[in-house]
Amino acid sequence: MAEGAATSTATTLPVRDIPGDYGIPFASAIRDRLDFYYFQGQDKYFQTRVDKYHSTVVRLNVPPGPFMATDPRVIAVLDANSFPILFDVSKVEKKDVFTGTYMPSTSLTGGYRVCSYLDPSEPNHAKVKQLLFNILASRKDAVIPAFRANFTALFETMESQVTAAGKSDFNKLNDNTSFDFLGEAYFGVRPSSTALGSTGPTKSTKWLFLQLCPLMTLGLPKILEELLLHTFPLPPLIAKCDYKALYKYFSSAAGNALDNAEKLGLKRDEACHNLLFATVFNSYGGMKVLLPGILGWLAKADKSLHVRLAKEIRSTVLAEGGKVTLNAVEKMDLTRSVVYEALRMDPPVKYQYGKAKQDLVIESHDAAFKVKKGEMLFGYQPFATRDPKVFDDADRFIGDRFLGDEGKKLIKYVVWSNGPESESPTVSNKQCPGKDFVVLVGRLLVVEFFLRYDTFTADVGTVLLGSQVTVTSLTKVAASSSD
Ligand code: HEM
Repeated sequence: MAEGAATSTATTLPVRDIPGDYGIPFASAIRDRLDFYYFQGQDKYFQTRVDKYHSTVVRLNVPPGPFMATDPRVIAVLDANSFPILFDVSKVEKKDVFTGTYMPSTSLTGGYRVCSYLDPSEPNHAKVKQLLFNILASRKDAVIPAFRANFTALFETMESQVTAAGKSDFNKLNDNTSFDFLGEAYFGVRPSSTALGSTGPTKSTKWLFLQLCPLMTLGLPKILEELLLHTFPLPPLIAKCDYKALYKYFSSAAGNALDNAEKLGLKRDEACHNLLFATVFNSYGGMKVLLPGILGWLAKADKSLHVRLAKEIRSTVLAEGGKVTLNAVEKMDLTRSVVYEALRMDPPVKYQYGKAKQDLVIESHDAAFKVKKGEMLFGYQPFATRDPKVFDDADRFIGDRFLGDEGKKLIKYVVWSNGPESESPTVSNKQCPGKDFVVLVGRLLVVEFFLRYDTFTADVGTVLLGSQVTVTSLTKVAASSSD
């Protein structure tokens, strides 16, 4: 199996011109956008081009295109070998490419370009990222208690809804719960106990929508969506009051973190806008997709996986004196494998971008390709993490895929965090600083779930950028075997 390789020097593979076609300026970009959203869908959009050109490195247009983005032309890297070029910040520039070929107005972030849009060569990148590392490290012991407190309440509500109505919308409950959980875990203050009350999730969703709607379809008439979502940015004014209320929460709840930010050399207000973004966009936006994604895969999995997870989780917790501790969670290998597998099948952030800093050679599995300085590289992550040349039965969810010696070798191909799962985020790379936190939270959902339930059923559909999970039955664990 080939190592992730993208090199600016020699290659042993045959060198090919990058195939593909951008078509007629403007008109083809719009036609491609319609294919991407409506006529083909994203997977087919990329697969038809891979098939047509017999290449997993190919030139194509990405949405949203005109007028939202000035240039939709990219070189797409669509296999596990070429994809890692996007992690190498010595070769690709990550400035203003977080959302892709368009960038939302900075008036949505207090006039600042926040960390996600900064290249590591920009001085504030390291300062903000260090601030986030400091917060996560200082609140390490708060994560499990905050998760338990908030998600126990979620499960109680879910049970009563299933009993009363025969179903429970997990996404809706998760939206409210994750928001409170994150505030409590990071800053020790539940947003719902402040002036925000229960409005935080709605205000956040509105603000997120303004930034992400160019990448979404809502099922409205196409012409309406094209005009409203995909062609011109919606005015930031729409979310101004909501953002102000969210900012107020952060400026008071995150007092200690903001003191720390000033010591690191950041302006207090710039740090606060960054904390809001990291908590609401990166973390909350991530949890909205991640947790329904994990539960959805569990719902679709064989019931025998539920039995094995329940056994692993309950016996490990029992051996830890009946407590869910970090130590206990670390010992749960099947639980970790299930979370990796969910992240592999459906990476919550599917698109990554980077601009070539210099002339480069990129390697797929079977060919090498020359890229010119300044060209935009784009990765559609599911094609890297479902690469059949790396993963057997790549399109199938296999809960125990990452167990054992062979399974461990595959962990580096899980790259949801914008880097291999076997590596760590630093202030000088662009790997997600929430990497370990996210995998912990994913595992905690599975742990708490199978401490309470033997099995369950759910309807799993799709919604905006992820899965919609409606739980339809819950089999509670018999009282004697609960923790
Ligand atoms: C960066 C995914 C949760 C903070 C990223 C990137 C990805 C990602 C793919 C790289 C984007 C790019 O540059 O192309 C996710 C997912 C999450 C999640 C899927 C949850 C399911 C979090 C959390 C935090 C966080 C909990 C809180 C600290 C950030 C920040 C960056 C980032 C600040 C920019 C890093 C940098 O500039 O070096 N994340 N993330 N994310 N993430 Fe996360």
